[in-house]
Amino acid sequence: MPKYILINQTIKSFKKQIRVAADKSISIRSILLASQAVGISKISNLLESEDVLNALNIIRKLGINYKKKKNDYLIEGFGLNGFNIKKKTTINAGNSGTLARLILGLLTKSKFKIKLIGDKSLSNRDFSRVIKPLELFGANIKSKKNSLPIEILGTDFLRPVFYNERIGSAQVKSCIILGALNTPGVTKIKARYSRNHTELMLKFLKYPINVIKKSNHEIISIKGLNQFKSFNYIIPGDISSAAFFIVLTLLSKKSQLIIQDVNINKSRIGIITILNKMGANIKLKNKKIYKGENISDIFVKSVKTIKGINCPSYLNSSAIDEFLVIFLMAAKAKGVSNFKNLSELNKKESPRLDIALNFLRMIGVKVKRKKNDIKIYGNPNLKIKKKIHIKSYLKDHRVFMMSSIAALCFGGSWKIEDKDSVNTSFPSFLKLLKELGGKIN
Ligand code: S3P
Repeated sequence: MPKYILINQTIKSFKKQIRVAADKSISIRSILLASQAVGISKISNLLESEDVLNALNIIRKLGINYKKKKNDYLIEGFGLNGFNIKKKTTINAGNSGTLARLILGLLTKSKFKIKLIGDKSLSNRDFSRVIKPLELFGANIKSKKNSLPIEILGTDFLRPVFYNERIGSAQVKSCIILGALNTPGVTKIKARYSRNHTELMLKFLKYPINVIKKSNHEIISIKGLNQFKSFNYIIPGDISSAAFFIVLTLLSKKSQLIIQDVNINKSRIGIITILNKMGANIKLKNKKIYKGENISDIFVKSVKTIKGINCPSYLNSSAIDEFLVIFLMAAKAKGVSNFKNLSELNKKESPRLDIALNFLRMIGVKVKRKKNDIKIYGNPNLKIKKKIHIKSYLKDHRVFMMSSIAALCFGGSWKIEDKDSVNTSFPSFLKLLKELGGKIN
């Protein structure tokens, strides 16, 4: 089977209602928290992608059983630190930064050394950001150059920490919150704003966690050593997966799309704010609140004139996984778009800022870069007539999906490698594109 796709035609107009893949961040958190609850938790509509299956594999390796019953996953936890860890255990987080960083938080009290490994992309990523706070708790960590493989050995003498989280990373914040669960006393985090699913889930579990919001940061206090009961959770759709279809609709002619039941947590919908500032008219309808999370249907229509944007960098964290498709909008905008302080983009599954610049230049869009700021000179008449070959960039799923959307909207004759990368976060991506009429070989 070829590992690439070919796209030689733009997509025709469509009018449909779809559901996208379940939320990856919430899927992983629900598994990890179920592994620490007392009793059997039931997770419905879990995302069945590689990152999430790796989370299930890891908890099983750590002694937690689960089974699938119809559409539900049943996970049996034995309370905080209820893992049954064997000597010489190695766990593999595959491609997932979230899984790798969050699981370390749960291992601060492990009796034996555990080795954490990952794939080539994950092994290139920085772990100093979690090693620092984990060492403050008292965990013993061994790593070469602050990257995977990492060995962690827990301690019975954990101490609460006060940590200033300056990156605005939910992975770092969540790692510390999970570390705090096993730690006596109150752990405090001063955190720059980032997605808050871990906090919301713990609140819904009635765990003693308190969040005080300030203008540009929040103070989170977590009281350790409180048990919580097993729970039921239905995972909503993922805005980061919906993003590809939102931009596809905006850039296609005379099209309309409704995406049902998507998580629209404020800390995740930077893309909607940004696209609406660029002239889109995306509406959120049928809003509801589920266990502290906001969920709604997303209504989106093609847009005639796209405006360039001076993107305020306070939106960066809430749109961090969506910039690749936001750049496609900027490429077709009337006017210049500015994006600032995007250093974190280069720390994802692949160096996405570098890749986006090469990509935009390759499709004939003028871009300028100054350190981590970029300027995209939009061209409302952008049409691609040449052959484009997108090679595999560390198997980055979002680079593959962004390229597919560009091919279906801008024309040209595309060969895009590494179609299996979608299994990381959105296994039904190509099937859904075909349902909307995309011609993909
Ligand atoms: C995630 C947080 C973000 C995001 C990632 C998922 C999470 O990473 O890019 O895809 O689930 O916590 P950072 O927290 O490192 O910015």
